[in-house]
Amino acid sequence: MTPRTRRGLAIIGLVLSPFVVGLLLTYQVIRIPIDTDMARSQAVGYQDGPRILPPLGAVPLQGEAVGPDEFARNPVPADDVSLQRGKILYDIQCAVCHGERGRGDGPLAGYFTRTPENLIGSEATAEFDGSVYLTILQGFGEMPSLAENLTVRERWDIVNYIRTLPAGGK
Ligand code: HEC
Repeated sequence: MTPRTRRGLAIIGLVLSPFVVGLLLTYQVIRIPIDTDMARSQAVGYQDGPRILPPLGAVPLQGEAVGPDEFARNPVPADDVSLQRGKILYDIQCAVCHGERGRGDGPLAGYFTRTPENLIGSEATAEFDGSVYLTILQGFGEMPSLAENLTVRERWDIVNYIRTLPAGGK
C-alpha cells in the first residue's frame, strides 16, 4: 500500500465514521437511556404537590377565601337575573350528567359507576349552598371539578337555580 492509498483510506474512514456511529445509535447498538415518559419531565415536575399555601394576608381576587373545612356563604341573592343565568349555565355545565331537571338522569349518567347525585333528592336539598358550591369547585368522587368553566358569580347562580328545581317535577 502506497502512502497515498493509506491516506486516502484514512480520509474516507474519517468521513464515514460519524455515519457509522449514527447507525449504531439508531439501531441502539449503543444505548443512551432517554426518558420518553413526559409525565416525568421537568415541566410536569414543577406542578407536583405539595402545593404551597398563599402567603398570610393574601387577598383573593375572586370571591371570599374559603378554608378547606368550611362552607362558603352564598353572597349572590336568588333574584330573577341570577336564576335566569343559573338556568342557562346549568343546562350547559351540569345537565349532561345531572339531567335537565336535576334528577341524575342526563345522557352521560350511565357512564359513571355511581350515578350523578339527584339534585332534587332529600339529601341534596338538605345540603348547604356552600356544599354545592364546593362540589362545583373541587369536584366530588367521579364528578370533575368545573371551576375552570365557571366564574365565582356563575357558580352561585347555578347554586341558586338548583334550589328552584321542582321537587316532584318532570
Ligand atoms: C361529567 C358529569 C357531571 C357533570 C358535568 C356534573 N356532575 Fe355533579 N356529579 C356527577 C357524579 C357522577 C356525581 C356523583 C359522584 C359520586 O358520588 O362519586 C355528582 C355529584 C354531584 C353532587 C353531590 C355531591 C355530594 O356532596 O354528594 C352535587 C351537589 C353536584 N354533583 C352538582 C353539580 C353541579 C352544580 C354541576 C354543574 C355545575 C355538576 N354537578 C356537573 C357528575 C357530573
